[in-house]
Amino acid sequence: MKILITGGAGFIGSFLSEAYLERGDEIYVVDDLSTGSLSNISHLISNSHFHFVNDTILNREVMMELVGICDIVVHLAAAVGVKLIIDEPLKSIHTNIAGTETVLELANKFRKMVLLASSSEVYGSNSRVPLSETDTRIYGPTQILRWSYAASKAMDEFLALAYYRTKKLPVIIARFFNTVGPRQTGRYGMVIPRFIGQALKNEPLTVFGDGAQTRSFTYVEDLVRGIIGLIDESRAVGEVFNIGGEGEISINDLAKRVISVTQSSSQIRHIPYDEAYQEGFEDMQRRVPDISKIKDLIGYENTYSLDDILLKVTDFERDRLGD
Ligand SMILES: NC(=O)c1ccc[n+]([C@@H]2O[C@H](COP(=O)([O-])OP(=O)(O)OC[C@H]3O[C@@H](n4cnc5c(N)ncnc54)[C@H](O)[C@@H]3O)[C@@H](O)[C@H]2O)c1
Repeated sequence: MKILITGGAGFIGSFLSEAYLERGDEIYVVDDLSTGSLSNISHLISNSHFHFVNDTILNREVMMELVGICDIVVHLAAAVGVKLIIDEPLKSIHTNIAGTETVLELANKFRKMVLLASSSEVYGSNSRVPLSETDTRIYGPTQILRWSYAASKAMDEFLALAYYRTKKLPVIIARFFNTVGPRQTGRYGMVIPRFIGQALKNEPLTVFGDGAQTRSFTYVEDLVRGIIGLIDESRAVGEVFNIGGEGEISINDLAKRVISVTQSSSQIRHIPYDEAYQEGFEDMQRRVPDISKIKDLIGYENTYSLDDILLKVTDFERDRLGD
């Protein structure tokens, strides 16, 4: 099959490209390298089944050609990470809304299936545990920029579902919860690569807020199996699925685990949210997915423990730092 992966030079996209190439599929990647990088896909470039186009999903002509060639579109390209959204709100909103609209419109024109990457952010500050796909979204005011990411991903979902209902376009929506692994960059506010980078340099691990907030983490290869499994299952069409890790850990405990796994002499430093992000920044206390829907449909399981994940990211970051 020919698969177009938007954002394929990013963290998740590079692993997804690898997995599909291993299966013998042909991959087309479109990526503007805004948060992705050529180093993520340098090991794939020489593969004759891998094609890379350095462009934006907002370029309609390029997208028209690519969507026309491929059988399926996996739409991962987006402005990602709370920090980036706050630093560049206009560009982020435009990419996440107009970009997705272009992808869906062209997929509909050529009648191609789309898997849309959504996010646990769509649940907003709903701290119910665990969160299931039909749970309510709770958002703060528009003056708090972090909510624009949640709102843009929610609008992407509305659009995709509207194409499914009104045009019968086959769409699948996957809500990713915190996903971690090598190649993820800590520059845009992702907590595990940031902590591990700090620990390897024996710098203080900076915990935002009081650190009592909890999160759950998935390893990227588990997520990728989930994405491919959904695309291969015709009953997934028109549905929304959570994909994420089920174990919960507080950010304070995560910082301690990182210090222990990396054998670092770092201390932990707490930074108020207002200082780390924006005045009035709101965070959610807990965010744990209910993944029974994807388990029941395709037998999805998480196979990597948090320690496995931390060790893999530590090895990668050590190499990156040239240790
Ligand atoms: N990593 C996570 O924990 C997580 C959680 C929830 C949702 N997601 C979603 O998964 C998807 C992939 O995220 P990721 O973690 O791999 O992040 P990433 O930043 O590594 O990947 C996004 C990719 O999209 C590219 N991109 C951005 N704007 C573009 C544009 N206009 N045109 C073409 N390419 C563009 C970037 O260069 C990058 O390679 C995103 O849609 C994100 O919202 C990720």
